[in-house]
Amino acid sequence: MNYTLDEITRASADLLRKNRVHSTMNGQPFRYTRPAPSTYEQQWLWDSCFHAIALRWLDPAMAWDELRAVVAHAIPDGPDAGMLPHMTYWDGGGEALWNHPNRSFITQPPLVAVAAMAVAAKSPAGEAVGPLRELYPAIAAFHEWMDRRRDPDGDDLVACIHPWEAGWDAAPRFDPAMANVVANGDYSHDGLRAGRMRLTALCHSYGCDPVALRDAGYFHVESCDFNAVRVADLEALGAMADLLDKPADAARWHARAGAVQRAVAAKMWLPAPVGGLQVADLSGQEEAPLFDGGAQQFNILFGGCATPEMARDLAVQIEAALARTPYVLSTTPPEHPGFDPDRYWRGNVWIQVNWLVWMGLRRYGYTDLAQELARRSIDLVMQHGQHEHFNPFTGQGHGSHPHSWDALVLDMARA
Ligand code: GLC
Repeated sequence: MNYTLDEITRASADLLRKNRVHSTMNGQPFRYTRPAPSTYEQQWLWDSCFHAIALRWLDPAMAWDELRAVVAHAIPDGPDAGMLPHMTYWDGGGEALWNHPNRSFITQPPLVAVAAMAVAAKSPAGEAVGPLRELYPAIAAFHEWMDRRRDPDGDDLVACIHPWEAGWDAAPRFDPAMANVVANGDYSHDGLRAGRMRLTALCHSYGCDPVALRDAGYFHVESCDFNAVRVADLEALGAMADLLDKPADAARWHARAGAVQRAVAAKMWLPAPVGGLQVADLSGQEEAPLFDGGAQQFNILFGGCATPEMARDLAVQIEAALARTPYVLSTTPPEHPGFDPDRYWRGNVWIQVNWLVWMGLRRYGYTDLAQELARRSIDLVMQHGQHEHFNPFTGQGHGSHPHSWDALVLDMARA
């Protein structure tokens, strides 16, 4: 590592402090970390989970507040009761896009239990049980919602109804699933963005019903990384239930985790168009496999969804990626025809993706590879700045700045 722990700690602490926001709800104070100034002033679901994971090394009380704020705007009623919105507009302003002043009507990858248990591990003795008890009902309701509402075919895999839900807004892996909302085959940056806006309006007019949207030919994708992240979250929720002395709940969550884990391994590891096997997303009624060879497939390691053979194969691919570009991991591989190192989600490096892969490699015992991924991630952020995403060849930063989840490099340096 080319940077000292002190330097990394200082940079991460400054970043998270600069992006901190104070607000209130019904007279009660709340605080959270915006992803970045101006572009991303609201609270984002998976961002806040990553922020909490970094904050646990700096300020556990703030980490708990970040998670309290995440669950404060859970959907209270209707078919989506229990869902945690992917965006919270603490000071209003969400009407134009979401028909609600304070929240969106779609979600993001579930990491709240993972984050809560990570914060618990670094909280002073005896101080974690209170916040865990407080968070538990909302996280449990969130997973119940996924099972009830987002697995209509009962195959244990949750479906996303919008690419924003997967957190990979404009990745080529989703292009085929966007066909009915992208006008005139315009897959340019702006064309895709217009498609996402169109899809948002359609989600609203279909009442966010995943079956109606699927049957009408709109986005309905069982994403491999969303589901793998969910496994890790279910495992963490099981551990949380154990700690809170709820053995029946714990057994239920652990069983759900196992079922989703097996479903990912059994249904998503498929012969790829270029030969060999790859992890696919599954789209629509037909469950058509979507492949682009991207880094999302490495995230199944995070949820323990790979057999040892699959894990070995994925580790070999990660090693090859480390050899291809100095800065890793590009979310879309350089040999993909749609690869563009400077274009949003079409070939950039994202630190939160690296963190998930790093965790997955450690889970499977690939510690050297994990260490190398951590070292390069830390150097990238420390050398080139705390950007939203980066060019994998030059390290040049793109998008918003300073971007809060880059503080994850502190977790990579410490954990
Ligand atoms: C972008 C990313 C999304 C993230 C948000 C805030 O929309 O694609 O994953 O949550 O920015 O950082």
